[in-house]
This record gives sequence, structure tokens and C-alpha cells, in this order.
Amino acid sequence: MAVVIKSAHELALMREAGRIVAEVREALRVAVRPGITTAELDALGEQEIRKRGAEPSFKGYRGYPASICVSVNDEIVHGIPGDRVLQAGDIVSLDQGVIYKGYQGDTAITVAVGAISPAAQRLMDVTREALAAAIAAARAGQRLGDVSWAVQRCAEGAGLGVVREYGGHGIGRHLHEDPHIPNIGEPRRGLRLRSGMTLALEPMLAIGTAQTRVLDDVWTVVTRDGGLSAHFEHTIAITDGEAEVLTRL
Ligand code: MF3
Ligand code: CO
Ligand code: CO
Repeated sequence: MAVVIKSAHELALMREAGRIVAEVREALRVAVRPGITTAELDALGEQEIRKRGAEPSFKGYRGYPASICVSVNDEIVHGIPGDRVLQAGDIVSLDQGVIYKGYQGDTAITVAVGAISPAAQRLMDVTREALAAAIAAARAGQRLGDVSWAVQRCAEGAGLGVVREYGGHGIGRHLHEDPHIPNIGEPRRGLRLRSGMTLALEPMLAIGTAQTRVLDDVWTVVTRDGGLSAHFEHTIAITDGEAEVLTRL
């Protein structure tokens, strides 16, 4: 699929979808506490999405069974909500997507449950910084490799592993559009970014090797070595200046 350049009208709709999914992310973030189950977070997420007139884009996507992804500790992404009870010391990634007036927004954060270890806090901080570095690199005229390298550099500079099997993506009328956006790469290589491209950037970092495995539920991606993982994601629009973050509140 060719990379889609959005018109001003489409960007306005992407802005609305982005705002809604950012509000949902915020409602979920403040709901995280020891004792809550991941299914309760999913139910809240679906309610917050629908009350804004949007639909959960993940539900039914390639058969995915829930409205949001909830990935705890060594789970990297695509954790299926269920009866797991969050405990103090856990870190939990909340990934949510909405479709509104035909356009998609996709955003994720990793949240501490109660008090967490310094190593877990550092992992979260560096992953958030890696996303910020990727966004700063995502400017018209730069290349996709510059964005990927920004994440890799940030992670490896901090001694953390970068997940290679999953990455960011174009986004618009579809949740996943071209291009695929790896979180490792070489500067000055790859697709040249142009104003009007809308992208989901999503570094996934881990303490340890960051090699992955998929559980028997066919969705949940975990670290092979059991190390903690964190994930942050924003939907952005490339402009002639700094990227516009569509999922920032
Ligand atoms: N939100 C994920 C992403 O960031 C995709 C989730 S697909 C699902 O690209 F099926 F698990 F919902
Ligand atoms: Co996502
Ligand atoms: Co995404």
C-alpha cells in the first residue's frame, strides 16, 4: 500500500480521533491501582471510547477479542485483558485505539502500579524519552531511518534492549497503514517524510535482550528472558516544522 498523504480535512478528523483516544488513555491511566483487574480496565476503556461517540478499533481486529491491550511486566504488547489482578510493583502498558468519523487514533503508555523498583522506573522513563526523540526526528525532509535511529540510540545509550519484531506504522482510515516503522535503523536511510503523513510511533524497550515470544493465546507478546518491558505510543502528523502530536492532551 502506498503511503497516504492526508488532506487538511482528513488531518482535522485525525485530530478529533487523536484527542478522543488521548482522553481515554488519561481515564485509564488514573484508574490503574493495585487490586484492579485488566478486564475492568478493558470495560472502562470501552465505555470511555463509546461515550465519546467513537468505536474501539482493536475489537475484532484480526480477531482480537478486547477493546484495549493491557500488557503487564514482561508482557510487551497485545496483552489480552482478563482476570489478572494488578499488584503494587507491576508496570502496565495500556494501548488503546479508536475510530471516529472514519479515522483512527492509536496511543499507549506504561503506568506504575503503586511503588515500583528504580530499574522499572528507569525503563519507563527511557522509553518515554525514546518516543520523544523519535517525534523530534520526525520532520518533513528527514527519513524514516532517522526516526528509527533516534529510538535505538536512546535505548542502547541507556543499556536497554529494543524490541525488533514490532514497530510503528502509518495510520489513517486504517489502524495499520504503510510504512512500517522499525525502532532500530540507520540515519539518512529509508522513506523520506513528507508533510501530511500520519504515523504511529511506538518504541518498545526491555531490560535484557528484548527477544520476544508469543503466548499460546496467540496475541500476548512477552520477553523471552522474562525481563520487564515498557511501551509508549503517539499518533503524529508530519508538518513543515515539528511534528504535531495528535494524541497529546
Ligand atoms: N495498538 C497496537 C498498535 O499499536 C495494535 C493492536 S492490534 C490488536 O499498533 F489487535 F491487538 F488490537
Ligand atoms: Co497502539
Ligand atoms: Co500502533
